[in-house]
Amino acid sequence: MTLYINCCVREESRTERLAKAVLRKLGGEFTELNLYEENLKPLDRDTLNKRTALIEKGDYRDPMFDYAKQFANADTIVIAAPYWDLSFPATLKTYIENIYITGIVSAYDEKGMPVGLCKATELYYVTTAGGPYDPTYSYGYIESLAKNFFGIPETYLVKAEMLDIEGNDAEETLNLEIDRIMKNGIL
Ligand SMILES: Cc1cc2nc3c(=O)[nH]c(=O)nc-3n(C[C@H](O)[C@H](O)[C@H](O)COP(=O)(O)O)c2cc1C
Repeated sequence: MTLYINCCVREESRTERLAKAVLRKLGGEFTELNLYEENLKPLDRDTLNKRTALIEKGDYRDPMFDYAKQFANADTIVIAAPYWDLSFPATLKTYIENIYITGIVSAYDEKGMPVGLCKATELYYVTTAGGPYDPTYSYGYIESLAKNFFGIPETYLVKAEMLDIEGNDAEETLNLEIDRIMKNGIL
């Protein structure tokens, strides 16, 4: 099962259009998790205390762990998020805060080193940017989490950039990238 994590808020989202091309090319069924339709909340003192206590007991039955279980069980992961403020929307960070559960997506070995527990072998990060795209605080961060902590060995960036630069034809740039994916493959 492919898990499509949709963090695109605009109705006419270009990132979402690009992600749909990636999903079409991957083929097969996918489950969409639209982060803006979920009731995601950042951790606060109460939820963090509750979560820590449950993790210490090894009790993962609470619904607060459902997002992490869904993420850990996916075969392929596609994340769609626009480039915002050199990074991605805070809603995606809130989601990550909710899924990063020791014992579900990640664990520590006897030397205290992180070991990934996720089933996925591939993660695609899809984004579009108004100007030039710098992956450091968005794709770079997700890549690091995936490879170093979640056990997802392959991560790929799919992007269209410079879409809001005056004189550039955003539709043309986006359509060219979508056509390229459909004809030549995602990468
Ligand atoms: C809140 C916000 C922050 C943004 N920050 C950046 C930025 O730091 N750099 C950039 O190149 N574009 C930035 N943009 C432009 C978007 O990356 C660009 O329009 C993108 O294609 C939007 O994706 P969407 O059509 O999927 O919403 C920003 C747009 C918004 C709404």
